[in-house]
Amino acid sequence: MSDSKIYPVKANIAQTTHLDNEQYLAMYQASVSDPETFWAEQGRKFVDWMKPFTKVKNTSFDPGHVSIKWFEDGQLNISANCIDRHLATRGDEVAIIWEGDDPNQDSKLTFKQLHQAVCRFANALKAQGVKKGDVVCLYMPMVPEAAIAMLACTRIGAVHSIVFGGFSPEALAGRIIDSNSQFVITSDEGLRGGRAVPLKANVDEALANPEVDCVKSVIVLKRTGGDIDWVDGRDFWWDELTAVASDDCAPEPMNAEDPLFILYTSGSTGKPKGVLHTTGGYLVYAAMTFKYVFDYQDGDVYWCTADVGWITGHSYLVYGPLANGATTLLFEGVPNYPDASRMSQVCDKHQVSILYTAPTAIRALMAQGDAAVAGTKRTSLRIMGSVGEPINPEAWEWYYRTIGDERCPIVDTWWQTETGGILITPLPGATELKPGSATRPFFGVQPALVDNLGNELEGATSGNLIIRDSWPGQMRSVYGDHERFEQTYFSTFPGVYTTGDGARRDEDGYFWITGRVDDVLNVSGHRMGTAEIESALVAHPKISEAAVVGVPHEIKGQGIYAYVTLNAGEEADAALHKEVKAWVRKEIGPIATPDILHWADALPKTRSGKIMRRILRKIATNETDSLGDTSTLADPSVVDRLIAEKSSLE
Ligand code: WTA
Repeated sequence: MSDSKIYPVKANIAQTTHLDNEQYLAMYQASVSDPETFWAEQGRKFVDWMKPFTKVKNTSFDPGHVSIKWFEDGQLNISANCIDRHLATRGDEVAIIWEGDDPNQDSKLTFKQLHQAVCRFANALKAQGVKKGDVVCLYMPMVPEAAIAMLACTRIGAVHSIVFGGFSPEALAGRIIDSNSQFVITSDEGLRGGRAVPLKANVDEALANPEVDCVKSVIVLKRTGGDIDWVDGRDFWWDELTAVASDDCAPEPMNAEDPLFILYTSGSTGKPKGVLHTTGGYLVYAAMTFKYVFDYQDGDVYWCTADVGWITGHSYLVYGPLANGATTLLFEGVPNYPDASRMSQVCDKHQVSILYTAPTAIRALMAQGDAAVAGTKRTSLRIMGSVGEPINPEAWEWYYRTIGDERCPIVDTWWQTETGGILITPLPGATELKPGSATRPFFGVQPALVDNLGNELEGATSGNLIIRDSWPGQMRSVYGDHERFEQTYFSTFPGVYTTGDGARRDEDGYFWITGRVDDVLNVSGHRMGTAEIESALVAHPKISEAAVVGVPHEIKGQGIYAYVTLNAGEEADAALHKEVKAWVRKEIGPIATPDILHWADALPKTRSGKIMRRILRKIATNETDSLGDTSTLADPSVVDRLIAEKSSLE
C-alpha cells in the first residue's frame, strides 16, 4: 500500500499551537524514559489536589497480578476540578453551550451557573439517600442536565454508570443488575432528529423485569412534557427535588483510586463488560490529552458530537474540556437534521473553533455533497478531530476540504473505552498528517506490534496492536470481575495490554489502525459483540442457531450480516424477517439491528461443532474463490447451499 499524501504542518499553525514537532519529540522521550517524573509533573499541572500525591506509578501487567494504580495516595474531587477552581478566574464565562434538536432552542450555562446547578442536584441526590460509592445509573438525553448529573455524582463520590439512550429496556435492565444501581436518573422523553425517544417508558419496562430488584428511586427530568406513567414513592421529578435543595455542597475528598464511573462496552465474548475507571489518573489523562490533542486555548469553543452514553462523551465532552475550563458544546440532535447542513450551521451559530466527530457522520454528510455546507462559512473552525473507527482517506479528504476548507489540521484519534483517553493521535502543530493514519503515540504511550504468538515485530509491518506499559487513564478492572479483566486484556499476550485491534506501522513509524482482530464489530462507530447479537437472535423462539459477521458498509463502516437457521417447520417469510429485526431492536437497541438476514439451511461447522466464521465472512463479502480449506467441515456441502442462498438474497 503506498503511503498516500502527506500534509505538512503549516507554518502559521506550528507557531500558534502549544507544541511543535521538536517539542513533541522531546516530551515524548521524557515521558517514556522517566514516566515517574513526567507524570508527577503533569499530575500537578492538570489537577488540583486536596491532598498531594507522593506516589506516582504503581502498575503491573503480570499475569495473575494485574494491578494498576496512579497517584494512589493523592486526594481530589473531579467536580471541584471541573468547576470550582475556575470560578475565580472565569466564573462568568460559558462552560456549556446547549444546542437543541430544534435549531431554535439553545441555552448557555456559565461556570457559576453550572456550579449552582451541580451543587443543588448533588444535594438532591444526597436527600434521596445516595452515598459515596453508590452506583447511580444515568439514562439521559443530550441536555445539560446529563453533564450536571455526572458532575453531581462525582461531587459526592457516587459512581455513575451511563447507559446510552438508544439501548433497549432489556439492555438497560442488564446493566442496572450488573452494576447493582439503586438510583436511576432519566428524562420523560429524549428528542433526536425530530422524534421523541421514550426514555421513562423504557426505564419503567426495565424495572418491571423481576430480576431488577435493586432500584430504590428514579429521578425524572422533564424534557418534552410528554405523557408518562408514574410510580408514587419511586419516581421523583428532578425540578421538585432541586427546588428545595441548597446551593451549597462541599466536594467530597476522593482517593485517586476511588471508582469514578462504570461504562459498559462490548467484547468478543459474553455480555457487555462494566469498564471501571478511577478518579485521579483518569482526570489527569483526560485533561492533558484534551489540551494537547485539540490544542485547546482560551477563547476556543469546542464541540464534540458524541453522546454522553459513550466514552468519548465522558472524556471529551465533559471531563477533559471542563477540567481545562473550556467552553463545551452539547448537542441534542443529529448532524443532518433538519437538513444536511445542520452541523455546519451549528459551527457558524456558536463560532465553534474545535470540532470532534466520527467517520460515520462524515461519510453520511459526504454522501450529501455540497448540501452539507450550504449557506455556511465555518471560518471559526481551527482544528477538527475524528474518532470511533478507521477513517477512510476519501472521507478524510472530504472532511479536510469541504468542512475545513483546507485550513484545519485533522486529528485522527485512536483510543478505546478501556483506555480512558486518546492513545495514538497527531498533535495539530507537531504532526505531519497522512489521511487515514492515527499517526504517533501520545505522551507516555508505548504501542507495539506483535504476531499471533506474541513476538514483537520491528519496522514497517502489520500485526496485533499492544501497549507495553500503563498510562494514567487506563481502566482498572471489569466491574465485579477482575479475573475477566486479566483474561480479556492481559492473557493473549502476557505482560502487555492487548487492544483487540490490528494495525500497520509504516516507514515513518506512523500507525494505521486496520480494525478489530476479534469478534467485535464497529457499526457507525459503536462497538457490538457478534456474540451479543447472536444470543439476542437465538433467544427468539423460532430461531435455532445464529452467526453474525461484519460486512463493509459505505456509511456505517461495518454492517451487520446475520446467518439464521430456523427451528424445523418454521417458515422464513417476510413477516418473520420483520419480526426478527424488531426482536433484536427490542433485545439490544436499534444500533444492533441486522442489515442483512440470511435464512440459512445450516451453518458450516467443524466436526467438533465449532462454527467456522472465516467461511461465513467470505460468503457474506462474496469472496467465495478464497474460502480456504473446507475439508475440516463436518458437512462441506453446507458451503454450496449457503452460496446459493446468498445469491438468491441479492
Ligand atoms: C475503534 C471509542 C481507527 C477501534 C473511543 C477501537 C478506531 C474501538 C479509532 C474502540 C480511530 C476508535 N481509528 N479505529 N481513530 N478510534 N477506533 O470503546 O477498533 O467505543 O478498538 O471507544 O474503536 O471503541 P470504543
